[in-house]
Order: sequence, then structure tokens, then C-alpha cells
Amino acid sequence: MSLKACIYKGILCLGMLISSTSAGSLCFPTSATTLHTFPNHTWAENIAVRPNGQILVTTLQNGAQLWQIDPFHETDPVIVHQWSNRTGLTGIAELEPDVFAVIASDLSLSPLTIGSGSYEIWRVELHNNHPHVSLVAPIPEAKLLNGMGAFDRESGTVLVADSLLNSLWFVNTRTGSYKQVIHDPVPISGPNSTLNLGINGVRVFGDDIYFDNMGEEVLLKVPKYAAEGYPAPVDVVANLTVASDDFTFDIEGNAYIAGSNKITKVSPSGAQCVYSAADAIQGSTSAAWGRTSLDATTLYVTTKIGRLVAIRIAESVAN
Ligand SMILES: *[C@@H]1O[C@H](CO)[C@@H](O)[C@H](O)[C@H]1NC(C)=O
Ligand SMILES: *[C@@H]1O[C@H](CO)[C@@H](O)[C@H](O)[C@H]1NC(C)=O
Ligand SMILES: *[C@@H]1O[C@H](CO)[C@@H](O)[C@H](O)[C@H]1NC(C)=O
Ligand SMILES: *[C@@H]1O[C@H](CO)[C@@H](O)[C@H](O)[C@H]1NC(C)=O
Repeated sequence: MSLKACIYKGILCLGMLISSTSAGSLCFPTSATTLHTFPNHTWAENIAVRPNGQILVTTLQNGAQLWQIDPFHETDPVIVHQWSNRTGLTGIAELEPDVFAVIASDLSLSPLTIGSGSYEIWRVELHNNHPHVSLVAPIPEAKLLNGMGAFDRESGTVLVADSLLNSLWFVNTRTGSYKQVIHDPVPISGPNSTLNLGINGVRVFGDDIYFDNMGEEVLLKVPKYAAEGYPAPVDVVANLTVASDDFTFDIEGNAYIAGSNKITKVSPSGAQCVYSAADAIQGSTSAAWGRTSLDATTLYVTTKIGRLVAIRIAESVAN
């Protein structure tokens, strides 16, 4: 059955059964539904969910756009804002309820333009009726800003992964100040990649900062105080079996890592299983949980071929 027959939100029109073709043990069976297909050539890069359940998606390739998709009603998705002089948006993180930081740049993937020197952090306020978009800081020293995670909502600080410097930037979105704080001790490799990417996603969970190295296929963690400049050990949480992209956590501290056409679930002890939803999450780039009672056990996944997919994961509870 074609996925195109299944693009309508709100309707569980096709329970894509989980295939068992992938390496690694399979997670509990579940189903996936394509909620939205973006215009051709759109690379859906990252995702966040508003407190009201509306889904925000950042895009590359077909414009640096921030989209909003309603997972509950058949209303047309809207472009919240387009950065018309930029080619792509990458990471997104919620700073305070309904206020998000996003990364805009001249990054383009086909043909490849890394856009070093063009990276900027922007603030998008959605709590009023009209979105308010303002520049936080250009980071001209950045090489390739990718994932972003909220560090401390009180102080408005975020961590941003630089996939080419293989380090994290610590950015204060109130003052616009920024500094490089943590270098991944695992070197970048990835002989098959035209672009050897290191750290891709970053999230804070509990007292730790988690980040994954795409080239080395590892999930790492370091105590939060490392972002304030204190020396701290970087631990390997899990050796992954596939190249990894952005990720999210559930309330129990399991990580759900996109990348390589899968979602890999990694428990706090490092145990892993894989959700592989046939074609539906081909090119998975990031994931986020629903935030309402209707979709608290739904994991929304973005893909590089421009899809937003809902995976129902009954056995987990969203963070
Ligand atoms: C989008 O891609 C599909 C599938 O490749 C193609 O059939 C369709 O014509 C394309 N639409 C546009 C507007 O290019
Ligand atoms: C890009 O557009 C924004 C407004 O959307 C403007 O503030 C900024 O100066 C522009 N940057 C360049 C390099 O033209
Ligand atoms: C790397 O490329 C070689 C040659 O194209 C291929 O045989 C191999 O499977 C690739 N390895 C990975 C990890 O993709
Ligand atoms: C990851 O792999 C390295 C090298 O093979 C090994 O030393 C380490 O114990 C592994 N870590 C975990 C958490 O599996």
C-alpha cells in the first residue's frame, strides 16, 4: 500500500507493521502513520512540540522555514516564519513555554554548502497571536550548527552541537553571549561520508548533557557542570549500531534516537532496541513526544525526505 494513501492527520489509516529486517533487537511492535508530507525537496530537519500540541518542524533545501502542523485536525500546515535570505534551519529548542530558539544558516545539502560563518541563533515567540521573531546572536566562528537543546530555562541558556568542530556551544539567549564548552573526545571518522559529521544532537536530561556522535556512532554523556567550564568525565552511554541524528527522551530517561531510517531506543543502562517502521521513517532526522493527553505516547518523527510521521509507542510515557 502506498504511503501517499495515508497522508491524512487524525486518521490512523495505515498501521505500518514494524519490519524485522534491521539489525539489532526490535522494540515492542507499534504502528506508524504519515501525518504530513512537505513540498518536494523539503528536508525536515528538526522538531519541537508546542505546549498546545501543535508541532513545529524546521526545514532545509526548500527554504529555511519553520512550519506548524496540527496533529489533531485536518487544517493545512502553516509556515510560521521563513528566513528568506537563508537556506536552512537546523536545531530547535524551547526556551520557556511557547518560546523557541532556532538555528538559521546558509547550510544546504544538495549541492552541499556547509555555510560556515553564516550560523545564527534566533528567538521565536509564539505565545501571542502573532509570532515574534528576533535575532539572538550570529555565531560566525561556528562551522556547522546542528542540534540544539535547552540547558537552563531560568537563564535562557541552550547548548548547540557543532558537527564539524565536534563540540558544543553554550549560548545565553538573553544576552547573546556564547562560548565553546565541550569537545567530544571521540574523533570524527566516517570514511563513507562526503561530510564527516561528529556531534549531531544534544539534550539535557536530569543532571547530564547527552550528545551523539554521528561518525562514531556513540551516545555520550557528561555532567551538566561541564557546560560551566568545570572538568568532567565524558562517558559512553551506548555504542550504537548505526549513524545517529537528533534524539529525545521519555520520562524514564530512555533516549529515542533518529538516524539511519530508524528510531533506536537506548535505556539509561545502555540497552538498545530499534523501531524500524518500514518505509515510513526512511531518512529519520529527529523525534519529539506529543504533549497533550491525546498524544502523550506518540513519538513524532521528521525525515529528510520531507515527512512528519507519528509512531504510537504504547509502552512509554513522554518526558
Ligand atoms: C513531487 O514529486 C512527485 C514524486 O516524485 C512528483 O510526482 C510530483 O510531480 C512532484 N511535484 C512537483 C510540484 O514537482
Ligand atoms: C536576513 O534577513 C533578516 C530579516 O529576516 C535581517 O535581519 C538580516 O539582516 C538579513 N541578513 C542578511 C545577511 O541579509
Ligand atoms: C562503505 O563503502 C563501501 C564501498 O562503497 C561499502 O562496501 C561499505 O558497506 C560501506 N560501509 C558502510 C558502513 O556504509
Ligand atoms: C563501547 O565500545 C568500546 C570500544 O569497543 C568499549 O570499550 C566500551 O566498553 C563500550 N561501551 C559501552 C557502554 O558499551
